Amino acid sequence: MDKKRVAIIGVTGSVGQEFVQSLENHPWFEVTQIAASERSAGKDYLDAIKDASGIIAWDVDGEIPEYIKSMTVKKIDDLDVSQLDLVFSAVESVAARDIETKMAADLPVISTSSAYRYEEDVPILIPGINDDQAELLETQKKNRNWKGWVAPLPNCTTTGLAITLKPLLDKYGVKKVMMTSMQAISGGGRSGVSAMGITDNIIPYIPKEEEKVRTETRKILGKLKDGKIEDADIRISCTCTRVPIIDGHTESVFVETSSEIDPAKAKELYNSYNQNISVQGLPSAPEKYYAFHEDPTRPQPRMERSVGGGMTTTIGRVEKEELFDHGLKYILFSHNKKMGSAKGAVLLAEMLYKKGKI
Ligand SMILES: NC(=O)c1ccc[n+]([C@@H]2O[C@H](COP(=O)([O-])OP(=O)(O)OC[C@H]3O[C@@H](n4cnc5c(N)ncnc54)[C@H](OP(=O)(O)O)[C@@H]3O)[C@@H](O)[C@H]2O)c1
Repeated sequence: MDKKRVAIIGVTGSVGQEFVQSLENHPWFEVTQIAASERSAGKDYLDAIKDASGIIAWDVDGEIPEYIKSMTVKKIDDLDVSQLDLVFSAVESVAARDIETKMAADLPVISTSSAYRYEEDVPILIPGINDDQAELLETQKKNRNWKGWVAPLPNCTTTGLAITLKPLLDKYGVKKVMMTSMQAISGGGRSGVSAMGITDNIIPYIPKEEEKVRTETRKILGKLKDGKIEDADIRISCTCTRVPIIDGHTESVFVETSSEIDPAKAKELYNSYNQNISVQGLPSAPEKYYAFHEDPTRPQPRMERSVGGGMTTTIGRVEKEELFDHGLKYILFSHNKKMGSAKGAVLLAEMLYKKGKI
């Protein structure tokens, strides 16, 4: 089988580097072109990821894959779209808007940025959770007269929340959610918080994050009806904080459900979703989509990060919540750069490829 030729845009950044690793020896996709800003353009990859002191700044656990080391980083305008089948975009949202618009005119674009997330004809996709909303990509293509489309993933903090709420919503109904996040440093990208700012510290505010979580969760858990997404009717309150953890977001969640639920029912529910999850068997899918722990000392970022190759969402500390007539509280862990961005984007590409959309 001929592999699909893909480009990674923003290849030098935190998420871009993770794409490089996630696509190494991929059975269906081959990275044939890479791009970043003017700062990196024209350099070999290894040079482009050096910091100002000339030190290689590789944020991913493990070796830098051989295939990328001497590949030349291009300017966006120098990408040859006629030689591509798919683009992965991992650029900050303002720059991403123009770049993704230009690319989608010719090609499918899978994006980790927020540039297009809130448009009416754009679904926010989490493979395994709202695959049916991918049908909106056809409407988008038609509306905009594009040959391609833009399919964004959610913000990495929304990912774990929406993944854990979906089974609860389907079976027990979800009325209200309160969430406090403890988000990893890498979630802010290469130029995010400084080492001095985050060491021995907690930053109690992440600009725009809470609004993103509220809006995106409702859209993802909504229903596609007559070519539009009807948001889920859930009231969400959240506080997003940055903590001194390198990778992986932890979230403390309180959920009010419509009908009676308890930890045993929740365990059974997540286990049954594991059996039937749509992405099962795809190359980047984990063996278990959900890990449910009864041990009250889980989840812990250091232990959960590598579970399922960073693609498993961990749920622990599950208890009945007495504040509500019916409800649960739990703590979740979700890897922001694996399921929450690059590797999740590759899994999304695999799902869309299987649906014949790529
Ligand atoms: N970090 C996470 O965990 C995470 C999770 C989910 C979503 N996201 C989203 O993913 C996107 C990338 O995040 P990140 O954390 O990887 O950011 P980052 O580390 O700051 O990397 C940004 C990348 O974009 C490139 N870039 C910047 N301006 C550009 C331009 N005008 N044209 C072309 N390339 C340009 C940079 O290239 P140079 O190196 O040449 O400057 C770099 O490769 C953002 O939209 C972010 O919100 C991030």
